[in-house]
Amino acid sequence: MSVTRSAITGVGGYLPDEVVTNTDLSKLVDTSDAWIIERTGIRERRRAAKDQATSDLAVEAARRALVASGRTAEEIDLIIVATTTPDLTFPATASIVQKKLGCPVAPAFDVQAVCSGFVYALSVADGFVARGLAKCALVIGAECMTRLLDFTDRGTCVLFGDGAGAVIMEPVAGRGDTHDTGLLGFALRCDGTKGDILYVDGGPSTTGTVGHLRMMGQQVFKNAVVNITEAVEACAASAGFKVSDVDWFVPHQANQRILAGVAARLGISEDKVVSTVAHHANTSAASIPLALAEAISDGRISKGQLVLVEAMGGGLTWGACAFRL
Ligand code: UT7
Repeated sequence: MSVTRSAITGVGGYLPDEVVTNTDLSKLVDTSDAWIIERTGIRERRRAAKDQATSDLAVEAARRALVASGRTAEEIDLIIVATTTPDLTFPATASIVQKKLGCPVAPAFDVQAVCSGFVYALSVADGFVARGLAKCALVIGAECMTRLLDFTDRGTCVLFGDGAGAVIMEPVAGRGDTHDTGLLGFALRCDGTKGDILYVDGGPSTTGTVGHLRMMGQQVFKNAVVNITEAVEACAASAGFKVSDVDWFVPHQANQRILAGVAARLGISEDKVVSTVAHHANTSAASIPLALAEAISDGRISKGQLVLVEAMGGGLTWGACAFRL
C-alpha cells in the first residue's frame, strides 16, 4: 500500500548564553548542588537574556533546522509553535516567528499542551503534511520557563530552564509499514481532573496576571512514570512495532529519575535513552526537540533509525510519538 508520511528532514536547537548553576540558585533559596543533582540529575540550566522573548529563541532554532534540511524560510507553508510561555497573550508566537523569519503567508498557530506540547504539535503537523496540505512544515518547541518561576519556591525554581528546538517536516512516500521513513504512530492523552497538581496561578481571564508555576512534585512524579509508560506502549502498538524495536528514546527532560523509572518499567536499557536534563533542565515543550538536535548533531541518532519521543506535563497532558528518521 502506498502512503504519504511526514518525514523529519532537519532538526535544530538553540540555548541562550547565560548558564545558571545549582550553586547560583543556592544563593536564592535553601537548596544545594548535591540535593538538586541527587533528586533530579540537573546540574545547570540556561536563562534567556532580558531582551530575548520566546519567539527569538524559536527563530534561532528554526534557522538551524532550515539549514539542516536544506530548505529556506520562503518554502515554509505551515508554522506550529508549542509553547506555554508565549511572547504575548496574542498574536500567537507562531505569527511572530513567521514575521521574523520572513516566511510567506500560510497557517501559523500555537499549540498549548505544556511539556507535552511538542508531541501534540508533531501530531497536528502530521495531519497537514500526510494529507498533502503542507509541503514544508516548521514545528517548534520554545520556552522561557524561567519567566514563570517563583524564585522563593525551592521545590520548583531549580527545575526549569529556557531554550528552543525545531524540526522541518516534509512529505515522503511510504509503503505503509514500520520500515517507512516518517511519523509512524502517536498516543496523546489529557486528564483535566489532575490539572491542579501542576499549573500556573495566573491568566488573562482570571487574575489578569502571568502568574507563577505551582507543582505538587511527588504526585506529578508518580503520574509521569505510570502515564508515560502506558503512552509509549500504546504508541508502539498503534504503529505496529515492539518497544524493544526502538533504536532511541528521546524523552521530555524533567528529571533523570523519571527517565530511569520509565526505562526500567519498559525494560529498555538506559543507553538507548537520550538525556540532556543535566545541562538543559526542564525546558517544557522545547526539551524533546533540543535533545533530538543534540543527539543527531553528535552522531548518536542517524538516518533510518526508529525514534520514540514522549512527554508528560501540565493538564495533565501526556503522549508519545514514533518516527523513523
Ligand atoms: O515536566 C513535568 C513537570 N515536572 C516534573 O515532572 C517533576 C516531577 N517531580 C519531581 O521531579 C520531584 O518530585 C522533585 C524533584 C520536584 C522533588 O523531589 P522529591 O524527591 O519528590 O522531593 P519531595 O517533594 O518529596 O521533597 C523532599 C524534601 C522536602 O523537605 P521535607 O518536607 O522532607 O523537610 C522538600 O521541602 O526535599 C525538600 N526540597 C528541597 N530541598 C532542597 C524540595 N525542593 C528542594 C530543593 N532543595 N530544591
